[in-house]
Amino acid sequence: MRTLSSRISQLTESQTVALTSLLESMKREGKDVISLGAGEPDFATPYAIQQAATHAIQKGNTKYTAVSGIYELRQAISNWINNEYSVIYSPENIVVTSGAKHAIYQSIIAICDPGDEIIVPIPYWVSYPAQIELAGGVVKTITPQTMDLKITAEQIDQAITAKTKAIILNSPCNPSGVVYSKPELEAIARVIKRNGIYVISDEIYDKIIFDALEYSSMTYFADVRDQLIYVNGVSKSFAMTGWRIGFLAANSQIVSAVKKYQGHSTTHPTTISQVAALEAYRGDQSFHREMVAAFQQRRDYVMQRLSTIKKTGCVFPRGAFYAFPDLSLYYNKNMGIKSSLELCYYLLEQFGVGLVPGQAFGMDTHVRLSFATSLDVLKIAFDRIESGLKSLAP
Ligand SMILES: Cc1ncc(COP(=O)(O)O)c(C=O)c1O
Repeated sequence: MRTLSSRISQLTESQTVALTSLLESMKREGKDVISLGAGEPDFATPYAIQQAATHAIQKGNTKYTAVSGIYELRQAISNWINNEYSVIYSPENIVVTSGAKHAIYQSIIAICDPGDEIIVPIPYWVSYPAQIELAGGVVKTITPQTMDLKITAEQIDQAITAKTKAIILNSPCNPSGVVYSKPELEAIARVIKRNGIYVISDEIYDKIIFDALEYSSMTYFADVRDQLIYVNGVSKSFAMTGWRIGFLAANSQIVSAVKKYQGHSTTHPTTISQVAALEAYRGDQSFHREMVAAFQQRRDYVMQRLSTIKKTGCVFPRGAFYAFPDLSLYYNKNMGIKSSLELCYYLLEQFGVGLVPGQAFGMDTHVRLSFATSLDVLKIAFDRIESGLKSLAP
């Protein structure tokens, strides 16, 4: 038998896959396990959006669309961006994709030649490094030097070389919940402008912001607009993860490149989901408010519980639905726990609670826990985490 491609062979499988399978098999066996691993809102897709999709099927709106997506949807996205951020992207500068994930992947494919470097701040969303590697690129990580888990414009400036093609930014950040302020982004935009690199700004959590914080989008900075690949979608903000609709907005050259790739790979995202997303962007926008209020209440509960557990440090999440505490002081060599992965195995096997090891996000000192689950579940989970950590205390 001939070998598989070296591209796929070199791609490392996430070590959290085995952990997730263990959690699932424990559930199947009827064991009492709770997962705080969810990467999606625990809310139903709003009814009007569900109905729009049902009508699309019944009316026969089930054929191919334009490669970049239905014109009306791109127009609705263009209006939405304008309403939210007072920035004009024409429908011709928007490509609808199969989730934000595919928007990011296709952006990387469009700009990255083998050997090109793409800067990725730590902690990063798990798929960025893998996508860069698939494109033959080189992942260049930057580690935050401060407790707030933010990287600075100066750090980016220092990391840029002649081979740097782009940086990927993600605010609010999965896994830390960190949200960059306007002055911080402005300083980063200046470095990007001066160095002529691209910036892929993944703003998929932009509607999940707490404490009435004013959110700043990378689209605000007109100077870098030509270098910006703006990524967003309906997955998180409209509780539509399974519908697989994201988009990117960028200059015409990037858009043509992505259309070429998409045209030969997925053709376009599912027509029915596109009609549903049209309703999301055109319809009532009040859904976020209820969801964000619930997430904020849970965030407060999680942070209060974490504050009572000694020797943990956790940046205060200002967006998304994750907390990312440092639990490394509980690593206990005598118990065979030297890493976030081993700690997560221990908490799952011995205490029945599933967390995601920070290793998956480039920070082995931390773990990610999602509060996209009810307060009742969070309470039980925290009782278990507390007991588990107590049993490890030196
Ligand atoms: C930071 C970040 N970007 C992108 C995505 C992917 O979004 P989608 O489900 O629309 O592909 C996720 C999903 O978890 C995410 O957390």
